[in-house]
Amino acid sequence: MKIAVSGKGGVGKTTFSANLSREFANRGYNVYAVDADPDVSLGATLGFAADALASLRPVIEMKDAAKERSGGNGALYNLNPKVDDLIDDFALQHGNIKLLRMGAVKQGGTACYCRENSFLYAVLSNLLLDKDDVVIMDMSAGIEHLTRGTSRGVDMIIIVTEPTRVSVQTAKVVQQLARELGIKNIKILANKIRNAKEQAFIQDQFKSSELLAMVPFAEEVLENSMAEESGLLSGLGVMSGIEQIVDKIIQEVGAGN
Ligand SMILES: Nc1ncnc2c1ncn2[C@@H]1O[C@H](COP(=O)(O)OP(=O)(O)OP(=O)(O)O)[C@@H](O)[C@H]1O
Ligand SMILES: [Mg+2]
Repeated sequence: MKIAVSGKGGVGKTTFSANLSREFANRGYNVYAVDADPDVSLGATLGFAADALASLRPVIEMKDAAKERSGGNGALYNLNPKVDDLIDDFALQHGNIKLLRMGAVKQGGTACYCRENSFLYAVLSNLLLDKDDVVIMDMSAGIEHLTRGTSRGVDMIIIVTEPTRVSVQTAKVVQQLARELGIKNIKILANKIRNAKEQAFIQDQFKSSELLAMVPFAEEVLENSMAEESGLLSGLGVMSGIEQIVDKIIQEVGAGN
């Protein structure tokens, strides 16, 4: 199963991605937690050690490793290289979570960027090994990483929003783009909801069928991000309702994916 998480800056994408990773891992899934953010915040939020994170090589560098393997053949990008046996060199493992860092994923019309994107897509598509694997991609702020290449094979995109007009506006833009990209399951996760008024605001903006869940604002979640040595894997700052959210995702996507 492949899940992409998107939305405006600061809405809680990384926090939610980390919570999803932890919950799927607790259920025995092999989780690939993919950080598409250059400042490796997903790893830190999960609680990987700073020195280990600092030395984690980005997946984009795998291109060179794969190239060496093919004897430096530049045509490699088109061949959907087999990379799953290379993955472990580019992952930090904690229990059944493997953390990957994408490195610079750029969008643009140049051949160079397209190649990088298509390579990264090849890596992602090769990650999916069996039905107990789940890939969770923290797509970072905004929609710049959402390209045709990376969206192919995504089973669900979850767009996180706060109860504010600006983040709802961004969510709707991402939602529309996701539709154009043909992503089957497009869901909104309303985060940091504090009261009935904010709940009503979200219900006014989205149909109930579009809403995955509403997550309350929680001091413990915020405090966990302020603590120096913390991390979700230690069980601190878990978002309330994450079990039901994962139940719903599995139900929507289908257990066999
Ligand atoms: N439900 C919540 N209740 C309280 N605080 C929350 C909640 N969800 C996230 N936060 C806090 O909001 C802040 C931003 O969260 P996070 O870093 O996950 O957002 P992001 O969308 O990944 O941001 P960026 O766009 O910078 O990557 C963090 O301090 C986090 O602890
Ligand atoms: Mg983030």
